[in-house]
Amino acid sequence: MPPAQKKLFIKTFGCQMNVYDSNRMADALAPHGYLQTSNMEEADLVVLNTCHIREKASEKVFSELGRLKKLREQRSVKGRNTMIGVAGCVAQAEGDEIIARAPVVDLVFGPQSYHRLPELVTRAKMERVIDTDFPEEDKFEHLPAPARKISASRGLSAFLTVQEGCDKFCSFCVVPYTRGYETSRPMAAIISEARDLAGAGIREITLLGQNVNAYHGPDADGNENGLGALLFELAGIKGIERLRYTTSHPNDMNDELLAAHRDLPQLMPYLHLPVQSGSDRILQAMNRRHGSKSYLQIIEKIRKYRPDIAISGDFIVGFPGESDEDFSDTMTLVKEVGYASAYSFKYSPRPGTPGALLENRVEPEVADERLQQLQELIKRQQGEFNDRCCGKTLSVLLEKPGRQDGQLAGRSPYLQAVHVDAPSSMIGSIVPVRIKSAGPNSLYGELIAD
Ligand code: SAH
Ligand code: SF4
Ligand code: F3S
Repeated sequence: MPPAQKKLFIKTFGCQMNVYDSNRMADALAPHGYLQTSNMEEADLVVLNTCHIREKASEKVFSELGRLKKLREQRSVKGRNTMIGVAGCVAQAEGDEIIARAPVVDLVFGPQSYHRLPELVTRAKMERVIDTDFPEEDKFEHLPAPARKISASRGLSAFLTVQEGCDKFCSFCVVPYTRGYETSRPMAAIISEARDLAGAGIREITLLGQNVNAYHGPDADGNENGLGALLFELAGIKGIERLRYTTSHPNDMNDELLAAHRDLPQLMPYLHLPVQSGSDRILQAMNRRHGSKSYLQIIEKIRKYRPDIAISGDFIVGFPGESDEDFSDTMTLVKEVGYASAYSFKYSPRPGTPGALLENRVEPEVADERLQQLQELIKRQQGEFNDRCCGKTLSVLLEKPGRQDGQLAGRSPYLQAVHVDAPSSMIGSIVPVRIKSAGPNSLYGELIAD
């Protein structure tokens, strides 16, 4: 007899890896009768997949749990049980605190336990469960693949985790503690997952890793391969027309990866390469193990291999000890690179990281002011990048209905949102589009008639 049907609601915070993980959790529970719903009120099991990267992200969990407490009470009046689980990076970092502070939580489990989820849910019916061990076994080997129909329902573009964890220990960052040391999945497992995605009609795959370009997975002979080699293999899969990867570290941009950018038409000309600061003093305090000059040299080299590549980045302002001059070095670096897009954050001291022990903190108002200046510059650069696309023909993957009737929305190779006048029958195609106008966050274009 098939298991009785139950409803699962997952709320995902944080990075793309959490998005991928949420899907894999749903896949793990599907054979046990859990059907995913987008309506939290009807869920028998609610999972919060959390992010610990900045204090604000982390605090969201507790406010969300307050809401869930009410939901549980409302459902209980109707005679329905609701199990509440907390997964992800806050679970990993603060599992004991969650159990202590939030009696509403039945189950806490870290990112390395997702393959054990069905068993943990069964146990949580009897007692409160916490599982934040880093197990020996490879969780990916034990996580079931989604049914083709489910993959297809998730859209034309899919994430695929190839590498997890980080050994770099930047002094501000919790990732090495929440995701553990760096591990790479075997090539064969990744290729097989990518083939399944292609079989389900997925056209674009974004390879994920906290340090994706540090990928060093074994091939069938047990030899280690880098991300470049993996991309060459994946480009051979029929149906996968676009490949991307994120997030990269400047020190791991090797020649084979650059060759992939030069030689593979499937590899999109967009690179997210965080630098965090333009000041060498601050970079050193951040334990980034690269300087601003070496970052700029890498960008220059990448542009030689792939001249039209769009560069994106991450920045932190207000790291302890950051002076006006250090910040001005960051602004100079941004001007030198010319970003197509970039993310910037105010430094948030995180418990357990070396940065949190530093005393020469930057005044919050100063950090706010710097953040605003940097964001204005980045916004201007993004606008200029979009403007430069006007009049050009870009290939666009048409993904979904657009804002207006008769319009579809898709993505350019540079990850820009593009609105195109096109019939819904064209969803799923990759077509040349002549860009007619540009806004700060999206482009508008017309199909080029055959
Ligand atoms: N693995 C990636 C990024 C991981 S976290 C890398 O190596 O760059 C994503 C971004 O969050 C980081 O690039 C950084 O800009 C930001 N971030 C991480 N920790 C932070 C902190 N304590 N305060 C503010 N921003 C932070
Ligand atoms: Fe965090 Fe640095 Fe590792 Fe990126 S490289 S995940 S910023 S420790
Ligand atoms: Fe957040 Fe964990 Fe990703 S801390 S950014 S969800 S790796």
